[in-house]
Amino acid sequence: MKPKYKRIILKLSGEALAGDKGYGICLDVVDSIAEQIKDIGDLGVQVGVVVGGGNIWRGATGSLKGMDRATADYMGMLATVINSLALQDALEKRGVNTRLQTAIEMKEIAEPYIRRRAIRHLEKGRVVILAAGTGNPYFSTDTTAALRAAEIEAEVILMGKKGTDGVYDSDPNLNPNAKKYKRLDYLDILNKGLSVMDSTATSLCMDNHIPLIVFDLGVRDNIKRAVMGESVGTFVGGDENGE
Ligand code: GTP
Repeated sequence: MKPKYKRIILKLSGEALAGDKGYGICLDVVDSIAEQIKDIGDLGVQVGVVVGGGNIWRGATGSLKGMDRATADYMGMLATVINSLALQDALEKRGVNTRLQTAIEMKEIAEPYIRRRAIRHLEKGRVVILAAGTGNPYFSTDTTAALRAAEIEAEVILMGKKGTDGVYDSDPNLNPNAKKYKRLDYLDILNKGLSVMDSTATSLCMDNHIPLIVFDLGVRDNIKRAVMGESVGTFVGGDENGE
């Protein structure tokens, strides 16, 4: 059995790294994600990872409480670097070759993000962790995932969530009758106002025909099942991505 996708962007929400505590980094969770990444790397899948930072700091929250939005967002970008270092450590402990690249230069810690270099690393079988968002305030890490996926020509974005196994028509935690979508068009996200990702990220995916799969990161092997083309979570794409 060959993987369906050869090059992917895995988007990990910061919250997913927090585990049950809801904040900070749960190393058991990071280890489990690293195991799953190793599994797909072993299948020959080229993996770029974009990590969020909401488990440490949310720019939007700081801004709501009166902070300068750009400053709050820069703090969020630094949070993604902390998460990325934790993931890099867990991967390398498992013998997975990695390269960490940051969109904001901090060369004592990581390489700067250079698109062609990132692609070269992927071709050499290294997991490339892409940190510090796009390097710009006002852009989410979902937008980063969409942008990097377009840049490195990833075939799909795997969007791992914590505690939700796809996209629902209403919050399943509040509404027991919430209905899960198996498949959605990008425009559904915008038109129905579904909280999958922000409109900038959605538009980027739509304009560049990058499908995404939203799934529960807490279920072991979900990442592998998704790259093998099995149906997990919710598939978002245009008609041309029809399964
Ligand atoms: P190839 O040339 O394709 O083999 O890639 P490479 O990443 O091994 O090349 P290089 O010799 O440039 O990098 C060796 C190590 O240094 C890797 O672990 C890189 O992640 C790291 N490295 C490269 N550039 C920087 C940098 O600007 N800052 C930091 N902190 N590390 C870097």
